[in-house]
Amino acid sequence: MIKQSDIVLNYFGNVTEISKALLEPGKEVALRGWLHRKRSSGGKAFAVIRDRTGIIQCIVDKAKVSEGEWNAIDGAYLESSMIVSGTVRKDERAPGGAELDVKELRVIHSGKEYPITEYQSPEFLLDVRHLWLRSQRLIKSMETRSYVFRYARKFLDKSGFYEITPPLLTKAGGETGANLFEVDYFGQKAYLTESSQLYAEAMIFALEKVYSFAPSYRAEKSRTTKHLAEYWHLEPEMAYFNNAKSMKLQEKLISYIANNLAKDNEDMLRAFNVDPASLLKIKPPFERITYEKAISILNEKGVTNPETKEKKRFEWGADFGVEEERVLTEDKEKPIFIYNWPKEIKAFYMPINKDGRTVACADMLAPRGHGEIIGGSERIWKLDELEARMKEVGLNMENYQWYLDLRKYGSVPHAGFGLGIERVIKWMLNLDHIRDAIPFPRLINRIAP
Ligand code: 4AD
Ligand code: MG
Repeated sequence: MIKQSDIVLNYFGNVTEISKALLEPGKEVALRGWLHRKRSSGGKAFAVIRDRTGIIQCIVDKAKVSEGEWNAIDGAYLESSMIVSGTVRKDERAPGGAELDVKELRVIHSGKEYPITEYQSPEFLLDVRHLWLRSQRLIKSMETRSYVFRYARKFLDKSGFYEITPPLLTKAGGETGANLFEVDYFGQKAYLTESSQLYAEAMIFALEKVYSFAPSYRAEKSRTTKHLAEYWHLEPEMAYFNNAKSMKLQEKLISYIANNLAKDNEDMLRAFNVDPASLLKIKPPFERITYEKAISILNEKGVTNPETKEKKRFEWGADFGVEEERVLTEDKEKPIFIYNWPKEIKAFYMPINKDGRTVACADMLAPRGHGEIIGGSERIWKLDELEARMKEVGLNMENYQWYLDLRKYGSVPHAGFGLGIERVIKWMLNLDHIRDAIPFPRLINRIAP
């Protein structure tokens, strides 16, 4: 028997989670949550309460509660925090299949009128992101995010990796170079990191198989549905790995995340209308297509130029944008690899293949146009080769002395890759926009809240 005094005194005591209460008709429970929706009619209040596990409709009968309790629920604003107790009753029509007949309730904080009403513009919802995070949609997406982080770490931990922590303030770029955020570091020019790869490379000589899971920063000028200025970047780096071995690891990692989401998080997927069966199908091997082949597929299938409305003609050396990635993956159920790209459009540290014009690398593209989720490659491990390549692309060697040092003392062949975790979540939840895969998105026009 749950007494009011227990609840009042016991803010910090144990309560039943809503998802569990829904499964226990006939049982008396206490719940702790927030007021999600409310209406009253004929001396009854119908209060939908939410906690992190779900929502339940609570029925408060004016005749059965004290005047103080009735006034509290009657005057409560949306998002008021409260504790309620009562008996769970089966009701097929209710969301979740059950309701709560309230015996006692206590509003903990009624606060002020909640600014978010039913129909709001996306821009307004981004302005009040700190509150919108309580929406059913974002609760589910943030929960999924946490599981994706967990599964990624679990997979790498059981595959013999050590997690490392790289610096995020750096002296030089490493990837695109063009998209760096500059910061004033005690009077010196420095940058927010755009990839932790170079530091992960340094650490394989100590720990052999490592990964860093940290933010990367890209001053992307492009306003697309898959670019963030700050994103979480999972970057494994492995000694004695070549590109083929790295691709095998990547498809296993992605399959592990997809399969575990499908098995253990069905309700999250269903909230986004994603069929768990589609993620259970994600299993190695993924299709491997050379860049050269991808070019001919694009020419065969045809991509229209949005300005001229004419069919684009793809030549060797062209990079792929949103539309090209869509055409290559629209009919795929699993991600695909595009490997051996032209050296001109890839980073300086990738070794040149025997053909003299491609580099030993691969991008993984998600199905149905969600785009590139992984970029990876072998790394040039010989000093003279690396120096020559850096000169060729015009890098300031001074900033990379420490990186060159790694090729002077017991260098070994190695490879690694970078996975954009929000891109993976966007694909697995089939989100329209990457912003809903991260709590506080940093976009070209937004750095607050
Ligand atoms: O292909 P990228 O630029 O590769 C690297 O940074 C390598 N240094 C990684 C490595 O080998 N350790 O980025 C890797 C991944 C992309 O495939 C994409 O998933 C994600 O990072 N990414 C972004 N995600 C969200 N917003 C952006 N602006 C992103 N830019 C890249
Ligand atoms: Mg890339």
